[in-house]
Amino acid sequence: MTTMENPTASGSGNAATDKFKGERVSSDTSPERVAAIVKDLFAAFNKIVHEHEVTYDEYRVLKQWMIDVGEYGEWPLWLDVFLEHEIEEVHYDRNRLAGTKGSIEGPYYVPNSPKLPSKCTMPMREKDKVAPALVFKGQVTDLDGNGLPGATVELWHADEDGYYSQFAPGIPEWNLRGTVEVDENGRFEITTLEPAPYRIPTDGPTGWFVESYGGHPWRPAHLHLMVKAPGKRAITTQLYFKGGEWVEDDVAAAVKPELLLDPQPNEDGVAEVTYNFVLDPEA
Ligand code: BEZ
Ligand code: FE
Repeated sequence: MTTMENPTASGSGNAATDKFKGERVSSDTSPERVAAIVKDLFAAFNKIVHEHEVTYDEYRVLKQWMIDVGEYGEWPLWLDVFLEHEIEEVHYDRNRLAGTKGSIEGPYYVPNSPKLPSKCTMPMREKDKVAPALVFKGQVTDLDGNGLPGATVELWHADEDGYYSQFAPGIPEWNLRGTVEVDENGRFEITTLEPAPYRIPTDGPTGWFVESYGGHPWRPAHLHLMVKAPGKRAITTQLYFKGGEWVEDDVAAAVKPELLLDPQPNEDGVAEVTYNFVLDPEA
């Protein structure tokens, strides 16, 4: 049971599934393309089954586990941990993008977070302030370095216990979520908290899966961002912290060298870092 003190895998999983189901996604993939993908998918399955001589017991365990993933609502979680990084890289490469690198969105994005001015503090509780403050500033530009007024920087991240608002009980709806409207030069300055490393839920089928092969469930500390500007391609990315725990061994394989921050104390002794976002033109 999910309670204020007791967030569970099935609680956050089902919240992520409900949010995703609400989007009713579609794709205009042609039947020929589907056929080509399905053919290769089954060829890969068949190869694995033969090479590893997969047994009936193993097949039944897989069936049971897949049912469990559905019942815990963990398909968005499992897919975003193990598959999304590859989809994201292909997206960047196939569109020949030149701007800031993307990273995975993960299952915990919520659109329409409260608008905040270019210089702002993220919505947070008193209790969140046990984490050190972080001043995160920068500019949104086009490929030629021109500032983009009208851009927005959506930021969301986990609290000091590793929970995301709207996906764990007892957290205010928009805690550590905001849509920052940049100034006339495309600049922003956000005061937030230094996030901690994040552990994907271990008490559900994604956690059991990781345990089954002796893996670990950790992601490095990260900020999630979605940056948009009129006439430009939106980017979804994450920023990580140089030298941070799990940066070299992210369970979701989503860290890139271009996405590392290295905050330094400012004159008030607060960790501060500048990161500029460069947006490609709209397709
Ligand atoms: C995250 O970044 O919060 C995340 C990414 C993939 C799966 C689960 C969480
Ligand atoms: Fe995250």
